[in-house]
Amino acid sequence: KPRTTPPSTLEMIRIVYRNPLELWGEQTYNEPWISAKGAGGPLVIANDPGLIRHVLVDNAKNYKMATVRQKILRPILRDGLLTAEGEVWKRSRKAMAPVFTPRHIFGFAQPMLKRTREFVTRYEDGGTSDIAHDMTLLTYDILAETLFSGEIAGEPGSFASQIDRLFETMGRVDPLDLLRAPDWLPRLTRIRGRKTMAYFRKIVTDTVKMREEKFRRDPDGVPQDFLTLLLKAEGPDGLTRSEVEDNIITFIGAGHETTARALGWTLYCLAESPWERDRVEQEIDAVLAREPDPTKWLDAMPFTRAAFDEALRLYPPAPSINREPIVPEMWGDLYIPKHAAVLVMPWVVHRHRKLWDRPDAFLPERFHPGNREKIDRFQYLPFGAGPRVCIGASFAMQEAIIALAIMLSRFRFDTTSETKPWPVQKLTTQPQGGLPMRVTPRAL
Ligand code: HEM
Repeated sequence: KPRTTPPSTLEMIRIVYRNPLELWGEQTYNEPWISAKGAGGPLVIANDPGLIRHVLVDNAKNYKMATVRQKILRPILRDGLLTAEGEVWKRSRKAMAPVFTPRHIFGFAQPMLKRTREFVTRYEDGGTSDIAHDMTLLTYDILAETLFSGEIAGEPGSFASQIDRLFETMGRVDPLDLLRAPDWLPRLTRIRGRKTMAYFRKIVTDTVKMREEKFRRDPDGVPQDFLTLLLKAEGPDGLTRSEVEDNIITFIGAGHETTARALGWTLYCLAESPWERDRVEQEIDAVLAREPDPTKWLDAMPFTRAAFDEALRLYPPAPSINREPIVPEMWGDLYIPKHAAVLVMPWVVHRHRKLWDRPDAFLPERFHPGNREKIDRFQYLPFGAGPRVCIGASFAMQEAIIALAIMLSRFRFDTTSETKPWPVQKLTTQPQGGLPMRVTPRAL
């Protein structure tokens, strides 16, 4: 429920640390934009689709990634695509475009299917499980297969356990960064994460070396996964070796938890709307009976896709897209000072009272064919927009449809009295306390 009174600076820092989603008052969900003085300087919240288009597309060249976000993510992701800026970003985005062509994405459909089928066997005996946690395991399995074909250096399992530690310790807003304190003041969040980071990095470096040796021994036997595709993007006009490593870590950072959250929230929304779930189950059953090729499922399942899109609206895994203008500017009457924190918040825009009818209700028909076209491109931004739009969106969509098709065709997911999801903004929008749900094999 939105707040009605503005928080004091101290309270604000506490809320940002606990759950930034609680910061925004009723006004934030009603106004086209809000211009205020935040704890760290001027703040502009952009809700109007025209203003969002201005910031993310038309005037994108005058905006950089927000300093606070860079301070959190750059120590982990370095010059990976998500945190790169200027010429490095331009060169990297171009070099990586061939990695995400439909041909390669379709090539990942079978590994996605295989890993999901193996994964769901854990539900065969039924029972209650934390679905939020399970989905992070599933999307990790799928990433391990599509990134490295499971060929990871180090002790088995160590990579998976380090990922959670790494993002848990380092992926937090440090109060000092929020206040834009000088860089020489030590940040506890960074110090704690340093050792994990060094260990994690070594596993990635060793994994790349292992693959190179394999390539030398048997050039034809190398799997066509992300790692091979990234190594092909290496070269004088392409990526450097350390950028290849940065982007491996970036794909994990940007593509693992986001997709997991999206799947968890979709299963939750469907469990709370059994009539929608019936429609989705019927569609999936019918398509699976006639179409064995998983690359065709996304187009063949408009209701399932709409349910997923609507869950992404209500619970956008990336709740805030943050930018900073490098020059002061005007947009209509709105003055945006240089270095203001400009927040385009899918979380707020997707629930804006003036942009959506019944904004807090789960209504997948908004995204049914015929309705979807009426939604402004800049009022629905789960994957962002403009030059820095998510490069992995089609990978994520294919993964989601395959995972949902396999899970929902075989099992029913129900909420229990223990399911009390409270969305909290960490790196992603996650349910506090997880998503305990009852899973039962479907009688077919
Ligand atoms: C960028 C969301 C899945 C890789 C973004 C952005 C958003 C986003 C909102 C824009 C950030 C900004 O403009 O500041 C999501 C969601 C996903 C998802 C909601 C899942 C449901 C993935 C996957 C991958 C990926 C699977 C990789 C395999 C990236 C990268 C960028 C990015 C590399 C940076 C692009 C650039 O700056 O040029 N994502 N993402 N994402 N995403 Fe995703």
